[in-house]
Amino acid sequence: MNAHKTEKAVAALTEKEAADELARLAREIQAHDTAYHTQDAPVISDAEYDQLRIRNAEIEKRFPTLVRDDSPSRRVGAAPAEGFRKVAHATPMLSLDNAFARDDVVLFFERVRRFLKLPPEAAVEVTAEPKIDGLSASLRYEKGAFVLGATRGDGTTGEDITQNLSTIADIPKRLKGQDLPDLLDIRGEAYMARTDFLELNAAREKAGEPVFANPRNAAAGSLRQLDPAITAKRKLRFFAYGWGETSAALGETQWEALAWLKAAGFVLNPLAECLKDEVEAAAFYERIEERRAELAYDIDGIVLKVNRLDWQARLGTVSRAPRWAIARKFPAERAETRLNDIGIQVGRTGALTPVAHLEPVTVGGVVVSRATLHNEDEIARKDVRKGDTVLIQRAGDVIPQVVGVITKKRPKGAKPFRFPQECPVCGSLAIREAGEVVRRCTGGLVCPAQAVERLRHFVSRNAFDIEGLGKKQVEAFWQEGRIQGPADIFRLEEKDGKAAPPLAECEGWGETSARNLFRAIAARREISLERFVYALGIRQVGQATARLIAQNYGSLANWRRAMEKAEDREGDAYRDLLNIDGIGPSVADDILGFFAEPNNRDVLNGLAGELRVEDFKAPEGSSAIAGKTIVFTGNLETMTRAEAKARAEALGAKVAGSVSAKTDFVVAGPGAGSKLKQAKELGVEILDEPAWLDVAGR
Ligand code: IVH
Repeated sequence: MNAHKTEKAVAALTEKEAADELARLAREIQAHDTAYHTQDAPVISDAEYDQLRIRNAEIEKRFPTLVRDDSPSRRVGAAPAEGFRKVAHATPMLSLDNAFARDDVVLFFERVRRFLKLPPEAAVEVTAEPKIDGLSASLRYEKGAFVLGATRGDGTTGEDITQNLSTIADIPKRLKGQDLPDLLDIRGEAYMARTDFLELNAAREKAGEPVFANPRNAAAGSLRQLDPAITAKRKLRFFAYGWGETSAALGETQWEALAWLKAAGFVLNPLAECLKDEVEAAAFYERIEERRAELAYDIDGIVLKVNRLDWQARLGTVSRAPRWAIARKFPAERAETRLNDIGIQVGRTGALTPVAHLEPVTVGGVVVSRATLHNEDEIARKDVRKGDTVLIQRAGDVIPQVVGVITKKRPKGAKPFRFPQECPVCGSLAIREAGEVVRRCTGGLVCPAQAVERLRHFVSRNAFDIEGLGKKQVEAFWQEGRIQGPADIFRLEEKDGKAAPPLAECEGWGETSARNLFRAIAARREISLERFVYALGIRQVGQATARLIAQNYGSLANWRRAMEKAEDREGDAYRDLLNIDGIGPSVADDILGFFAEPNNRDVLNGLAGELRVEDFKAPEGSSAIAGKTIVFTGNLETMTRAEAKARAEALGAKVAGSVSAKTDFVVAGPGAGSKLKQAKELGVEILDEPAWLDVAGR
């Protein structure tokens, strides 16, 4: 967020220079907007883009009379690719846990055996296939006919791109065979072959159009075309690798199901194999890595999936990834380049993150000009200095990192980096608490960086997910004074045209887009408790913890009341909070710290006047234990503690660590001790293993 050193300070600009620069910025930002929104091919990083907008705003602030009609501050983004309908996935589209070494895969097999209570020598068959670097899509078939195709989106809701997917020859429009299930959701990867990508780019270059950075971006850009005729020209392909909702089982194993898909007319990756164990998995990885360069398409690793589908069902998912699958990624690609500067970014929680500004370099097919330096200690440990030649690496979708310094290439006079002790955005003191690696700005919501980042988190995909209110818009609205805190979002319409000009009259907006935005905001005046809790952006409270909170407290009012009481660390409310399996003292501290801050209480009160936060709903088809608090103690014969806990939570129960008067059931196996005794004393219902299996399902 700090300005480029090469640029003249805004305070030093003459009027002529300011006018010239505003003209240049308007042109540049416009070009980046188009590249980002319309072509899916950003040329610069988000941070660099932010830099441009911030500089534009600063110059405009100093020279208000120079604000141009086509100024970026009057426009918000480019015309969004409107028109795709949202579709909810019947079963979520999951992501995969990553392994970067052979040992990680061995651990995966061990975890699977442990979870399933298999002996260490038990065979765990897996399917193995290359991990295609494309875009996942979900294809719905009704009685064998292709009826709906969607992007992954956030995993729960995607966009309807049926028309575009219909143009892909690999995707059957009608399935082959008799006895087709009434309903079938097929999952797979849409991608572009390397030769087709090169051809497309050559043609674009000739036509003076911007080129795509890699085949994946080209595939993404092609699938998000509003005109399917354009998609049809783009030579996309599709490998099927899985399924979502089905009205009938496709087999008893992953491998059988894949054979079924093939017979039905899908294209499967020809390199897929069924393997006996981790040893074969390691050999498979080596084979694929060796052939990587000669393949017709980009891959970034291999995917292993437990073959038995009944085991997959038992293993289930944790957060957003299945326990029964893992991706082993190829090692990161590395490159050398010059570090021009070290910038400091300020995040939602005030964390100061150092960012390396690099001489742009291509790593693994992508131009990189920024890399993370993690934190103060990392910089000191690696002794990274301005002007150094550094080794950077990029692994898959992970942010590029600075691996180390090539010290022999260090320029004379390079000085050790001095980490700022003040926030570079608001100037507040930045401090490191004992035991923390992160230095944080103490400015709270007074710090513009924190305020904007919190708003961005609030409207982000897994939080309020307000369509048309992305990063760029939040930033612009904040700069224009339209929104200061979360509640202001819900007052945008009512206040429109009062302080700032009406949105519909601003550049980049019109009657329709403004109306759509207000409608999208209004649609979020009702929100689930878990999304709401997550949206607050409390430190260490991600989606999983937000869900635990929702499940355990049920309503916003109840949670607030409990958190206020929990300030007394000796009392029951605090003990109850810690008793939630998955919430420890450190997370509890952050939650209570949030409530202790008057600003945050104002935010909650403000929001209370604007929204209705729905009470937590137990999952559908829920059982006798939905909403009940369960404590597990002792050993179970048929499943591990982890599996039992996962199952209980999936059925809507709350799992606690210790027994109290609030416990509804104690599931006790052999070896149960003090918890069982306590349950008896308190008269809590006790289930043995058969009784537990009756409620949990065998
Ligand atoms: S399985 C549980 N198999 O990788 C199912 N994914 O990191 C999760 N991908 O979103 C997906 N090749 O886009 C699976 N053979 C393959 C894959 C594959 C590529 C992508 C897919 C997914 C991402 C998860």
